[in-house]
Amino acid sequence: MEIGYMIDDTYWGQGLTGEAAQCVIDYVVRHLCIRTIIGFHRAVNIQSRRVFDKMGFKSESQFNHTQIIKGESVKIIGMRWSSA
Ligand SMILES: CC(C)(COP(=O)(O)OP(=O)(O)OC[C@H]1O[C@@H](n2cnc3c(N)ncnc32)[C@H](O)[C@@H]1OP(=O)(O)O)[C@@H](O)C(=O)NCCC(=O)NCCS
Repeated sequence: MEIGYMIDDTYWGQGLTGEAAQCVIDYVVRHLCIRTIIGFHRAVNIQSRRVFDKMGFKSESQFNHTQIIKGESVKIIGMRWSSA
């Protein structure tokens, strides 16, 4: 499963994204028996990276890649979470 997130900037910095994403993870692990979840963030997106880090995702270099977005080369970092 792949996860991604976005929250209105009115609510940034309150930990709400991680809280909501953790609920999704708990649900899919418990009810769908999913054991591995991946996600991606732009290398420059420190805020998104922090959310992944705080949920226990680890950087997975094999998923790193470059995308061309609006003519710009953008480094994308892959993250992975696995249940114990
Ligand atoms: C990335 C995003 C989902 C984070 O959501 P959030 O609910 O603010 O997440 P958190 O409250 O856990 O904050 C994460 C980190 O962002 C940083 N941060 C929070 N508010 C910030 C602000 N206003 N300015 C700069 N940094 C900020 C903090 O360093 C925080 O880390 P910390 O908990 O170690 O201090 C949100 O910024 C967003 O929607 N961004 C636009 C869409 C996007 O980039 N989505 C991710 C695509 S991969």
